[in-house]
Amino acid sequence: MKLCVVGTGYVGLVGAAIFSDWGNQVVGVDIDAEKIERIKKGEMPIYEPGLSDLVVKNISANRLSFTTSLVDGMKEAEAVFICVGTPQSETGDADLSAVWEVAKQIGENLFGYKVIVLKSTVPVGTNEKIKNVIRENMKMSAEFDVVSNPEFLREGYSVEDMQNPDRTVVGSDSEKALGIMRRLYEHLGKPIVECDFRSSEMIKYASNAFLASKISFINEMAQICEKSGADITVVAKGMGLDSRIGPKFLNAGIGYGGSCFPKDVAALYKTSSDQAYDFKLLRGVMEVNESQKEHFVNKIVRYFDGALSGKTFGVLGLAFKNNTDDIRDSVGVEIVKMLRGLGAYQKVFDPQAMYNAKKVLGEVSIKYCLDKYEAIEGTDALIILTEWQEFSTLDLDKVRMSLKNQVIFDGRILLDRKKVESAGFTYFTIGKKTSGTELLDRRPAGTPGVILRNGN
Ligand SMILES: NC(=O)c1ccc[n+]([C@@H]2O[C@H](COP(=O)([O-])OP(=O)(O)OC[C@H]3O[C@@H](n4cnc5c(N)ncnc54)[C@H](O)[C@@H]3O)[C@@H](O)[C@H]2O)c1
Repeated sequence: MKLCVVGTGYVGLVGAAIFSDWGNQVVGVDIDAEKIERIKKGEMPIYEPGLSDLVVKNISANRLSFTTSLVDGMKEAEAVFICVGTPQSETGDADLSAVWEVAKQIGENLFGYKVIVLKSTVPVGTNEKIKNVIRENMKMSAEFDVVSNPEFLREGYSVEDMQNPDRTVVGSDSEKALGIMRRLYEHLGKPIVECDFRSSEMIKYASNAFLASKISFINEMAQICEKSGADITVVAKGMGLDSRIGPKFLNAGIGYGGSCFPKDVAALYKTSSDQAYDFKLLRGVMEVNESQKEHFVNKIVRYFDGALSGKTFGVLGLAFKNNTDDIRDSVGVEIVKMLRGLGAYQKVFDPQAMYNAKKVLGEVSIKYCLDKYEAIEGTDALIILTEWQEFSTLDLDKVRMSLKNQVIFDGRILLDRKKVESAGFTYFTIGKKTSGTELLDRRPAGTPGVILRNGN
């Protein structure tokens, strides 16, 4: 099949590479000329394991090409995939301006039959509106259909996820368009959920909101565990072995972040409010997520008696999760900002997200280090904010010699508690009271800098 993919970000670039790897002829389009030039040279603008090989292989096989011209990209295509960003707007809604812009241009340049496939995450009703936008902008008469085809990939595993999805969702009112989608996806041998536009759009939001709810649930359980003497890692293991619950998304920590969960939960909540429905559970999910990072920062503030000014911390992890360079809505970046606001100087390291983080955090009170041990050297405490595998294998003897105080704050429950404690560290993490720190817990009211909220 001949396909055009508009937007070459985490979804579009991976999508274009994989569609071409399946034997299709694919043109990737982006308005970012610098990005397109880099991709053409085989340089990936994002970190995604396995992506570079796939792109280079398919460019060489003449199945994959890139351009900044949507007109050229869509000329021969049977289906045009819209994969542009839909970030959160100030009102909590999804900002659909990039989607409308692409739809308008598609309308202006449509001449033969094409299927327009919306892969970007969009609120209920958007696919129906897309039809109108395309129709209103058409300069000549042409047939087209619209398909909602939300994407469920995880950053860091996107190549794997797109090659082997749990399911594909396609919403449309056209049997002809659904037939084209079947031709594209049927060979995967995975369930294809065919439905109406609105159910398809809602499946995406419901899935992300449910996963975010699982995270906020386990984070609230972690709060109760800390107060009651239980250990959240053991509780989560015991829960996760129940096949009705499953072990995934039961890792307590500093909260969910990234380019999808925060904005999608907020957008679904906004959709509900617009329909005069108060989605109480989702409100709680967002509140818990907000307070979780404050709860973690308070552990640091309390330990240092509210005096972070003049303190230096070694911070490991800035990406919103492991295996990615994406720092959009990263809780780690938020925490670095909070600690800086409280007067701390920080030496930071992330295996992939340094470039992106520097653009957002700047240089004030932050030193960007070349590796994890340089970040820890000579600091007052080690703080872990992203669950990179390479942080779980820290040489504790080396860490002990590097730190001024033998204290570790682990926001991802990444280290082995027994090993860390028997190596002589005071170990603060999530969901288990730190031994010997009962007095610290009684300090909230008078401690300067402590952020006070329920549950903290
Ligand atoms: N990132 C994820 O993990 C993920 C997973 C599932 C779904 N989604 C959804 O997919 C969509 C894309 O997400 P992303 O993370 O790939 O975004 P992204 O920001 O990484 O990429 C979007 C790309 O679109 C390009 N673009 C913007 N306007 C354009 C235009 N008019 N013409 C051509 N290109 C244009 C941008 O330059 C950018 O390269 C969003 O709706 C997101 O919610 C993302």
